[in-house]
Amino acid sequence: MSLVEIKDLTVHYPIRSGFWNRITDSVKAVDGISFNIEAGETYGLVGESGSGKSTTGKSVVGLEKVTSGSIMYKGKDITKKANRKSLDYNHDVQMIFQDSLSSLNPRKRIEDIIAEPLRNFEHLDKNEEKLRVLQLLDIVGLDADALYKYPHQFSGGQRQRIGVARAVATNPKLIIADEPVSALDLSVQAQVLNFMKKIQREFGISYLFISHDLGVVRHMCNNIAIMNNGRLVEIGTKDDIYNHPMHIYTKRLLAAIPETNVNNRAEHRAKRLKVEEIYREQKDKYYDKDGLAYPLVQITPTHSVALPEDLVDQLKHEGEVQA
Ligand SMILES: Nc1ncnc2c1ncn2[C@@H]1O[C@H](COP(=O)(O)OP(=O)(O)O)[C@@H](O)[C@H]1O
Ligand SMILES: [Mg+2]
Repeated sequence: MSLVEIKDLTVHYPIRSGFWNRITDSVKAVDGISFNIEAGETYGLVGESGSGKSTTGKSVVGLEKVTSGSIMYKGKDITKKANRKSLDYNHDVQMIFQDSLSSLNPRKRIEDIIAEPLRNFEHLDKNEEKLRVLQLLDIVGLDADALYKYPHQFSGGQRQRIGVARAVATNPKLIIADEPVSALDLSVQAQVLNFMKKIQREFGISYLFISHDLGVVRHMCNNIAIMNNGRLVEIGTKDDIYNHPMHIYTKRLLAAIPETNVNNRAEHRAKRLKVEEIYREQKDKYYDKDGLAYPLVQITPTHSVALPEDLVDQLKHEGEVQA
């Protein structure tokens, strides 16, 4: 049994309009997705802005009401509030947000911010609590004098590490990290990612790692799902996705990874434009008449792609010819 099993999850937001403010339509933010997160792994959920990643993440923590489908944890469906309660789910599952400046209360000192989950879930006396907060600061590489400061007194990278410290305070099993480094400079990104990996090894945490950038996910995840317009278009291991991508949307995301080596920029740009051109020309083959992604077809035991069968055969054949 996997740690988390997401099955046929949909989340629709109502659209209201007209004089009576009736529900006239809905945004299918999440439109029937399924994937499993194993204990101790980092699962990557990647797609452009608006593809439904945050809505998925919020559903997994229990912050979003789901329309249909199930999210199983320890054999219970946590889309139901009573099950979240009986499992102590809010203790086991935490979230790290992209924008640490707005997710950390600006009026609270770091000591109180990090201690908040401890106060909610563990009953420590003042000294024990302070010790735990100091340990947590140490784990994420911040000095003890951080205790009495406020969020705005830190850099973006430091604030993100404070967010990590708060998320791991209660020793959770799963952390939903929603674009945790997207607001940071490249050099600082690596630091925060390394902290996240270190903490994962030490505490055996699983991550659902959400990003719009396949470049960031590469160093974090063993398994990756590519999300496009509420649906999954490709699921696979790191090798499947980076070395054998099959969906045109995945190929486009791969071409969009920023090139860090200045000397390769021109070549990288030319390649990206080529992929964009192929995308415009061939896109229709990859989506149904309503512009939606097809159901996933399994290519290998680890790799599935949202394609009609004939296109799968054609692409496989082309792959063989190229090789
Ligand atoms: N509270 C909401 N009410 C209505 N529509 C929403 C709400 N939250 C998100 N959406 C819509 O759902 C879609 C998916 O959004 P989101 O999950 O935030 O995507 P992502 O995190 O991949 O950028 C978008 O079209 C967005 O506009
Ligand atoms: Mg988002």
